[in-house]
Amino acid sequence: MSEVNFKPLQEKHWQAGDPTGWFEPAYAQANGDRAAIPWAEKGINPHLAEWAERVNLAGTGRTALVIGCGLGDDAEYLASRGFAVTAFDISPTAIAWCQERFPGSTVQYVVADLFAHALPPADFVLEAHTLQALPRPYRASAVAAISASVQGQLLVICRGCDVPEPGETIPWPLTPEELAGFAAAGLLQTSFEDFEDDKQPPRRRFRIEYNRQSLAR
Ligand SMILES: C[S@@+](CC[C@H](N)C(=O)[O-])C[C@H]1O[C@@H](n2cnc3c(N)ncnc32)[C@H](O)[C@@H]1O
Repeated sequence: MSEVNFKPLQEKHWQAGDPTGWFEPAYAQANGDRAAIPWAEKGINPHLAEWAERVNLAGTGRTALVIGCGLGDDAEYLASRGFAVTAFDISPTAIAWCQERFPGSTVQYVVADLFAHALPPADFVLEAHTLQALPRPYRASAVAAISASVQGQLLVICRGCDVPEPGETIPWPLTPEELAGFAAAGLLQTSFEDFEDDKQPPRRRFRIEYNRQSLAR
């Protein structure tokens, strides 16, 4: 199957004031075909793997939480680096799919809505590409919910822009103003990378590290 056109689903849910209700039917429509899910077919996020190798990210004895884990590749990658990983997604189909893909996994896959559940605390939190899939009015509360789970380090990987562009479509890049919510929630920004990826045409991306412990030094 080629990529499913999610636009009608998205419009229907957004118009009903439901920013995230389209994800579950989208995964269900894909019917087990990764190629139908545009963000899932490529495997581990290269911007996570490249960073983790560069900083020699060590997970042994540490917990990790993956926000909006999709089909689980990044969660499995963090588990392979030694973390005790909890990975959650709002879509029960996505979570069942992860469990089916990785039957012997040490990752705890959980159905949860970051707007509705208090997230478990973790030493390392990964947020990749979930915030950019949320309409802008919902981002501040999502940023606050994610921040509350960070005991040590947070890595955010997202599309980036200076200000929203007129006529933009999902995924909507994050702005520095939106990202400032992490600092407002008590996290210290320890690194900010602003780069173009290797897609054609290239896309602007941000990769940002935050640290809660640094504040106590
Ligand atoms: C664009 S996908 C990115 C998935 C994965 N992080 C990746 O990079 O491949 C966004 C994911 O966030 C999940 N999601 C959206 N809103 C959510 C919420 N409120 N709580 C938990 N997961 C959510 C969706 O179901 C979807 O799997």
